[in-house]
Amino acid sequence: MSFLYTDRIRKEFGGVIAVADVDFKVEKNTITGLIGPNGAGKTTLFNLITGLETADEGFVFFKGMDITNLKAYQITRLGIARTFQNLRLFKEMTVLENLMVGRHFKSSCLFTKRRLFNSFFCLFNIDKEEKDIYFSSMKWLSFFGLEEYKHELPKNMPYGKQKLVEIARALCSEPEVLFLDEPAAGLNPKETMELLSMIKKIKELGITIVLIEHDMKFVMNLCENIYVLNYGRLIASGTPAEIQNNELVIEAYLGKENE
Ligand SMILES: Nc1ncnc2c1ncn2[C@@H]1O[C@H](COP(=O)(O)OP(=O)(O)OP(=O)(O)O)[C@@H](O)[C@H]1O
Ligand SMILES: [Mg+2]
Repeated sequence: MSFLYTDRIRKEFGGVIAVADVDFKVEKNTITGLIGPNGAGKTTLFNLITGLETADEGFVFFKGMDITNLKAYQITRLGIARTFQNLRLFKEMTVLENLMVGRHFKSSCLFTKRRLFNSFFCLFNIDKEEKDIYFSSMKWLSFFGLEEYKHELPKNMPYGKQKLVEIARALCSEPEVLFLDEPAAGLNPKETMELLSMIKKIKELGITIVLIEHDMKFVMNLCENIYVLNYGRLIASGTPAEIQNNELVIEAYLGKENE
């Protein structure tokens, strides 16, 4: 049985079948890629797994547990975190505050600006949970080499660093599985290489990674298993070599790239 999998998961929007009875499997401590042309249903599949959309039919299983249609916060607490296709950082919060919110998603204590303030300035008077949130956030900040930005607003940082902040925030919930929706989109080649090595480092920590990406070189370099969606249907799955040689994939997606 796979670590995380969907069983004939289905989602329709009006007449559009965004995800059509898809069986998607993720093995523990691997990097799995999800590719396909625009509108293929990739983000919707992520949303179904991470509790942002409810399935019309089918199931999601994680570590043998049926997690279909649980709420997003419940799924986060079970150990599944994600980032978004478009950055969703809190604009009015500093980098450190953004990360602390990410840690609060895991925690049982309620997030408030006041609690964040306490965590910052009264480090010796706060409870264990608050300290835990602060130190966990600092740990991930330094993992990404972002300490110098900790009191900065995200908008004042290079875009590549903002994307790292979003990944760091997701990791603050200490997930077992991390879903990344187009992490390399908008990055320059240098930032893309940095991201690639960071994702490898995250995997070395024992975290399972699933990513959507249009940058084929990035996907082929990084992923052990790749799934391909087209018009909501799963048209192929396999190793990078198998996917690159798959006629259906070439026709649906890579062929388009080659043109
Ligand atoms: N909330 C929604 N309401 C209506 N239609 C939606 C909604 N979300 C997605 N869709 C439709 O479902 C289909 C799949 O969309 P989705 O965003 O999952 O594709 P994608 O593979 O992530 O595309 P992209 O590569 O452009 O990000 C598209 O036809 C899209 O227009
Ligand atoms: Mg998408």
